[in-house]
Amino acid sequence: MNVTHLYCSACAAEYAPNKLYNLCAACGKPLLVAYDLEKAAETLTKESLASRVPTLWRYAEVLPVADKINQLSLGEGMTPLHNAETLGTKYGLKNLYIKDESANPTQSFKARGMAVAVSMAKELGVKKVAAPSAGNAAGALSAYAALAGMECHIFVPLDTPKACIIECEVLGANVNLVDGLITDCGKIVAGRKEAEGWFDVSTLKEPYRVEGKKTMGYELAEQMNWNLPGVIFYPTGGGTGLIGMWKAFDEMEKMGWIDSFRPRMISVQADGCAPIVEAFEQNLDHGTEIENAHTVASGLRVPKAIGDFMMLDILRKSGGTAVSVSDEDLVAGAREIGACEGIFAAPEGGALLVAMKKLLDAGEIEKDQRIVLFNTGSGIKYLEAFETNLK
Ligand SMILES: Cc1ncc(COP(=O)(O)O)c(C=O)c1O
Ligand SMILES: [Zn+2]
Repeated sequence: MNVTHLYCSACAAEYAPNKLYNLCAACGKPLLVAYDLEKAAETLTKESLASRVPTLWRYAEVLPVADKINQLSLGEGMTPLHNAETLGTKYGLKNLYIKDESANPTQSFKARGMAVAVSMAKELGVKKVAAPSAGNAAGALSAYAALAGMECHIFVPLDTPKACIIECEVLGANVNLVDGLITDCGKIVAGRKEAEGWFDVSTLKEPYRVEGKKTMGYELAEQMNWNLPGVIFYPTGGGTGLIGMWKAFDEMEKMGWIDSFRPRMISVQADGCAPIVEAFEQNLDHGTEIENAHTVASGLRVPKAIGDFMMLDILRKSGGTAVSVSDEDLVAGAREIGACEGIFAAPEGGALLVAMKKLLDAGEIEKDQRIVLFNTGSGIKYLEAFETNLK
């Protein structure tokens, strides 16, 4: 185990490794995990990866789980990096890729975070987990909790895609439908967890989910032969995908695997809930809570993200930007990805194509760059969104 300590993303507080944590006790912001990367790099070498398992556990030295026996696995990670030639040709791009996270267990990138968070919870003796969710995280938590033999309590908005709700029930979770937004679901978990003995696995309110999600950064580098792309489009709600990948890039540089070049990170949101786009445009450090947040891309319906300041920092440091798109356009974007590339993308993934077109039209992207769209989930979970837009 190479974890040296945990550190606060906002203040100077540090915490001992190998313990259960939620937010920083000093300031209430998210905690992150630090590793002895020199030690990790002794055994985790680029060459060693060739013979390792085709799951995110191939990067075990830079993950927090100490004992292999606690590594829960359903085959998460090592998703295809699809060369999107048809779409690329259509838009005059030489190198357009889709990192297809719908190939994960429970069909979204959320499996990565939950695989690691639930494994850590198991290692640290947790018996009951709870989380608010927009849908996909709930399915992933239900799956890994089932595998770990834990009691699982899910809180989702009433209008969460039906497939997500049914999936959680089938996977043995207790599902609670809440007449409100994900932030309201979060408040219920926070209010009840103490009395119920639940460990709260909310996005960035525990430090290990982001560790699982950072493996997207390791994997992308590995699949691109250790040359990061010029631009990454990512649909952001809570922001762990973006934050995790950025952390992975820093770790890889410290291990001597990549240089200091970083992709431009582009956060994509929906017009009905775009706090990061607003804050970015207004040059703010934090987002302002969105009232009446609405979008069919339920993963993007996060009116206020606890890690918003980290996302904004990454967008600025990377020379990136934030773009929002309408619901009509993002569903159409998913249809276009489907018809051109054979991938049934989630609406969140569809949003990326529309955002990319906007930036191309504005001349903000050079066409010869390598561009990666992270399709974070599967359209199969959002049949309602596609059904109401049937041609
Ligand atoms: C398909 C999909 N894409 C993107 C997101 C946003 O992810 P994050 O909250 O890590 O920014 C979610 C979150 O629920 C999601 O389900
Ligand atoms: Zn702090």
